[in-house]
Amino acid sequence: MGKIKQLSKETINLISAGEVIENPSDILKELLENSIDAKATEITVDVKDAGISLLQVTDNGFGVERDDLLFCLEKYTTSKLESIDDLLTINSFGFRGEALSSINAVSKLKITSSVDDSGKAYFVENLDVKETSFKKGTKIEIRDLFYNLPVRKKYLKSNSVEFSKLYDIFLANVFLNPQITFKFNSEKKKVIFPKTNYENRLLQVFGTDIKSKGIFIDISNDFFKLKGVISNPSNQIYFPTNFLFINKRFVYSPQIYKIITEAYKDYLMIQQKPFFILFFEIDSRTVDVNVHPKKRVVKLLNEMLFLSELKKELNIILEKNLGKSTPQINSLNDYFKMDNPSNKFEYDKNKALSNTNFSRNTKYTVNDYYKPTQSIFNSETTDREELPTLFEHKITRFVGQLHNTYIVCETKEGVLFIDQHAADERINLEKNRQKVTFEKQNLISELPLPYLSEAHKDILLNNKLKLNELGFNYVYKDNKFYLTTLALFLDKYLDKNMFINILEDIKESTNTVDKLKDNLLKLKSCKQSIKANQELTLPEQIQLIKKLNLCKDKGICAHGRPTIIYFSKSELEKLFKRIV
Ligand SMILES: Nc1ncnc2c1ncn2[C@@H]1O[C@H](COP(=O)(O)OP(=O)(O)O)[C@@H](O)[C@H]1O
Ligand SMILES: [Mg+2]
Repeated sequence: MGKIKQLSKETINLISAGEVIENPSDILKELLENSIDAKATEITVDVKDAGISLLQVTDNGFGVERDDLLFCLEKYTTSKLESIDDLLTINSFGFRGEALSSINAVSKLKITSSVDDSGKAYFVENLDVKETSFKKGTKIEIRDLFYNLPVRKKYLKSNSVEFSKLYDIFLANVFLNPQITFKFNSEKKKVIFPKTNYENRLLQVFGTDIKSKGIFIDISNDFFKLKGVISNPSNQIYFPTNFLFINKRFVYSPQIYKIITEAYKDYLMIQQKPFFILFFEIDSRTVDVNVHPKKRVVKLLNEMLFLSELKKELNIILEKNLGKSTPQINSLNDYFKMDNPSNKFEYDKNKALSNTNFSRNTKYTVNDYYKPTQSIFNSETTDREELPTLFEHKITRFVGQLHNTYIVCETKEGVLFIDQHAADERINLEKNRQKVTFEKQNLISELPLPYLSEAHKDILLNNKLKLNELGFNYVYKDNKFYLTTLALFLDKYLDKNMFINILEDIKESTNTVDKLKDNLLKLKSCKQSIKANQELTLPEQIQLIKKLNLCKDKGICAHGRPTIIYFSKSELEKLFKRIV
C-alpha cells in the first residue's frame, strides 16, 4: 500500500458533488427551487438528451448581482440564511447552499443574470464574469453533465428513464406552483402551463377528463388536511406517475403508497395500480424532512396514527363513489353527512331473502317486459315496495335484459345498467370469502397436469409450500406433474387456464398466501357465475339485483370492473341535447 495522501480540494469537491447530484432530475429540482425562491412568475426549462447534454432554466425572478455571480458558485454560499437560527425557521426550499457549487463541479455551467429591466446583464462561465444583455431574471445553462466523472455518467439510466424522472420533477413543481407559468421544451415534449389556480392546474396537466374520471378530495381531520385527486375505481385514470406532497414537498413514501394500494385492493383489476395526486398538510412539528439528503423521504412522527386515519378516509371515499361513472366531489360537508344513518344505503336483508326463492319455471314473455304502464310484478312474486335501492338509486321498474347480458332498471332519477356476470361474480366472491375453506381432498386417481412451459415448471417446483397451502400437493414422475390433492371447493372448477393463472399469480413474489387464496376465490367466483349471453327470467334478474344489493362492495366485480353503470335523467337530457 502506498503512503496516505491528502486528497486535493478539487477532488473532495467532486466526490461530494457526485453524492448530491446523481442525475439531471436532481439538478432540475435545485434550479427550479432557486427560481421559485427568486419569486419568478415565469420559468422555462430547455432540455436536450434528457438533460445530459443540456439542461437550462430561465426565469424572470429578481436576479443575481454582478458581484455575487462568482460567489454563488462557491460551496456553502447562500443569500438565504445568515445565522444558525435561520436554519431552523427557513422557509425557502432549496436551502443547502451547495447546489450551484456541486452542479458546477460536475458539469459545464454558465449563469446569465440581470437584476433590473435595463437590459444590462452579466454572465459567469469558467470562473470568468463578463457583461452581456439579458432581461430581468436568471438563466442557468448546464452542459455535459458528468463530463469529468465518467463513472457517474455510466450509472445514469437510459435516456427515457432519466427523462421521465426529470419530467416528474418538472410536473411536481408545476403542481405546487399554479401561480407560475411554466414552459418545457425538449426534443420529445413542448408544453406550456399558463399561470392559473390549483384546480385548473390539475386540468391543464391531466386533461379535463379528470373531472369526470377522478375523485377530487378536500378533507381535513385531526391529523392532516388533504387535497387532491384519486382514481375512481369505476373509471380508471392512466398516468405514469403518482404524486405525493407533504407540506409542499414532493416526497416518496412507500408506507403511504401501500395504504393507498390496499384501500383499492378490491376495486381494481389484479395488475391495475391506483392513480393519485395528493397534497397533505400536516403540522410541521410532526414531520422530519432532514432524514434524506435530497429531502424526498420524510419521516412522520406519528406515522401509525396518520396511516390508519388515511386508510379510514380512503375507504369512506371509495365506498361512496362506487358505481358512479361520474364521481362525487368529496368535501368536508359530505363527511358529516356520511355519519347520518338516514344517508346510508339501508336495506332490509330479511325481507329481501324471503323473496328470493323464485322458481326457474315461471316464464315471462317479452311482452311482460314492455308494458310500462302496467306493473310487471304481479302479486304472486313481489310488489313495488320491495324493489331494491342500489346505492342511492331507488329502482322503480325492471325494464328487462339487453343482449342477454345487461339488466336494465328504471330508477327514480335515471336508469341503471347492470352487468349480470359482473354482478353475480361479486355476489359469489363475497359468499366464497365467508364460506370457503382450503380443506384438501385426496384425489382417488392422480390428476395429470397439462403440458407446462419450462418457466411454469420452475414456478411449480420452487413454490411447493405455497401451493400446498392452496391445497395442491403434487408428484413428479416420467417427466410429468400429477396433482394428488386439491382444495375441496375447486373440484368442479379447476381447468388448465385456471392452473396457469395460479402459477402466474405465485410468480409475483409480493403476493402473500392470503392474497393468493383470495385470488383463487376470485377465479372460482368468475367460473361459477352467470355468464354474458345467458337468458334470465325476470325473477332471476330481480333475485340477482337483490343479492347484489346485499354485497359489501356491490359496485365492482371480483376483478375490479364495474357492476353498475348509471345515467341520471339529466345526463340523458344532456346527451340528447335537450339541455346544455
Ligand atoms: N434563479 C436564481 N435567481 C436568483 N438568485 C439565484 C438563482 N439561483 C441561485 N441564486 C443565488 O445563488 C445562491 C446559491 O444557490 P444554491 O447553491 O442553490 O444555494 P441555496 O439555494 O441553498 O442558497 C442562492 O442563495 C441565490 O442567492
Ligand atoms: Mg438552491
